[in-house]
Amino acid sequence: MHIVTVVGARPQFVKAAPLRRALMDAGIRETLVHTGQHYDPEMSAVFFEELGLPDPDANLGTGSGTHAVQTGETMMRLEALLMQGPPLDGLIVYGDTNGTLAGALVAAKLGIPLIHVEAGLRSFNRRMPEEINRIVTDRLASVLCCPTETSVRNLAAEGIVEGVHLTGDVMLDATRFFAEAAGRRAPLSSVTTHGPGAYYAATVHRAGNTDDSERLASIFEGLGRLDAPVVVPLHPRTQARLSGIAVPENVEITDPLSYLRMLTLVRCARAVLTDSGGLQKESLWLGVPCITLREETEWVETLEGGWNRLAGADPARIAEAARMRPETPAPEAGEPGATARIAALLANR
Ligand code: UD1
Repeated sequence: MHIVTVVGARPQFVKAAPLRRALMDAGIRETLVHTGQHYDPEMSAVFFEELGLPDPDANLGTGSGTHAVQTGETMMRLEALLMQGPPLDGLIVYGDTNGTLAGALVAAKLGIPLIHVEAGLRSFNRRMPEEINRIVTDRLASVLCCPTETSVRNLAAEGIVEGVHLTGDVMLDATRFFAEAAGRRAPLSSVTTHGPGAYYAATVHRAGNTDDSERLASIFEGLGRLDAPVVVPLHPRTQARLSGIAVPENVEITDPLSYLRMLTLVRCARAVLTDSGGLQKESLWLGVPCITLREETEWVETLEGGWNRLAGADPARIAEAARMRPETPAPEAGEPGATARIAALLANR
């Protein structure tokens, strides 16, 4: 059995690493294609190295661009690549990026069964490009690997029931697998001068937050109201939008962090403030409360017991959410082993 996996952005490298291992264990051959969406060494190469991923078999070199340019270029280059190659038993895409959408459209039109890992997530906010990418990808997929019961229900509500599997969350396998390595290879002293619990960790990169300068300024004002230093590893997208934004004194901006260093930064933080999808879960799995800098979340399970709180971009809401503590023990992480379950269901097809 031979499948192609299409990745291109940081969180996809993190998810692809444990699934690759499980596919190998199940005797499935995987060809790894990098779209080139993330290309800076600290956004891409460092992840491959830390996660033990081999160099991609192909890099499409798409790079940055408008949504149409990024999606279209990826489609053209991927289609050309796949048309040269041998027949395939499947094509795996992850999550909701432009590369996910491009991979989905190309696979569907070449008649290659599409496998969507992290299917069924919905924010119900179509102003998010990711929401559009997810809806189309789920509609085209033959195998839909859902991380949560909510995601299965979301698909059912859209009439998608065939090929839907509740597999659990592949990111949980990654966190479990790499948390120990993070402790060893990326000690806190190599990441920040602050001690455990003495700082907040924050990330901001969503278009909805970065491309609206008032909203971005408002988020930074909120970080300025927190009662401890805030370490902010900054995505290049946000870095580019920072001119004219007041950065409060307690906010320490750093370059993007590698995966292991980020795990350490999160594990030792007082709380995490983020608009990332993955970090909302990673922080909880590491026992750290999260404040989400958005108005809604696809990961509604994380809201239980106040472990994750939606604060949008309003400074008062951000400061208030950071003062509050969870009301219950951390919500159940769910069963690890999603990667093995996905590999088994592919091997059985
Ligand atoms: C993409 C995904 C988003 C995901 C995120 C993970 C889409 C629509 N969005 O957003 O869902 O959460 O990846 O990080 O696919 N840039 C660099 N170096 C790089 C990559 C990007 O400088 O290696 C800069 C460029 O200025 C680029 C900007 O970052 O224009 C945004 O990058 P882009 O690929 O458009 O999307 P992300 O914001 O990373």
